[in-house]
Amino acid sequence: MKQQYHKYTPEDQEVWNILFERQIQNLQGKCDVHYLRCLESFAPVLNAEHIPAFEKVNEFMYSRNGWEIHVVPGLISVEEFFSLLSEKKWCSSTWLRTKAQLDYLEEPDMFHDIFGHLPLLLDDVFASFMEHFGKIGANHLNEPIVLTALQRLYWFTVEFGLSAIQGQEQIYGAGIISSFGETNHVFENKITKHPFDLDQVINHAFVNNEIQMEYYVIQEFSDLYNAVERLEALISEGLDITPAIVR
Ligand SMILES: [Fe+2]
Repeated sequence: MKQQYHKYTPEDQEVWNILFERQIQNLQGKCDVHYLRCLESFAPVLNAEHIPAFEKVNEFMYSRNGWEIHVVPGLISVEEFFSLLSEKKWCSSTWLRTKAQLDYLEEPDMFHDIFGHLPLLLDDVFASFMEHFGKIGANHLNEPIVLTALQRLYWFTVEFGLSAIQGQEQIYGAGIISSFGETNHVFENKITKHPFDLDQVINHAFVNNEIQMEYYVIQEFSDLYNAVERLEALISEGLDITPAIVR
């Protein structure tokens, strides 16, 4: 599958511009500096002016660290997701929400997949964590317990992670960074913040369609890399975790 750039309408371009500009403003003082630095590096191919052309983004990324965008039709199987990640391929959709849907999404669109997720893949430590994470998944596809542990780790870091890298709590998770409402929720509402701890995270069952009230705070990105190494050790000892919530 390929991005069909000529199919984007002037309204799509306008929506991208509104989302990008609005969120850059909103992230001021709330967002992890690594993310912002990476986004700045991406500026020649990823900016508010136009919907990014994946071909150009790929040339840019691949020449830096070998990562690429892999276009997917929407939700894909866990098997495919893990094996693509392990090959340094980031899955992204190509559709964009409409102007009437700026703040409501049932499925992740390109603004979430690209603006939210892509920048940190330029960070060496974060990118190594993602690659290693993909390899663990790809090696344990038939072990539901391992997949549940990975899903929880992903949820509380890649999607909803907070950091205190410069002593101040900030966001780095794409689910927050790509959402105007989630960003403000973290800073305006009474949420619970736990110091990041792999054992606690993989035992923390969550419901993905409810607003998050609990978050985990890393001190540095190497915490994430160390976490996947620890997870591998736990898997080899025989992983045992709290079951998922069934509703
Ligand atoms: Fe995501």
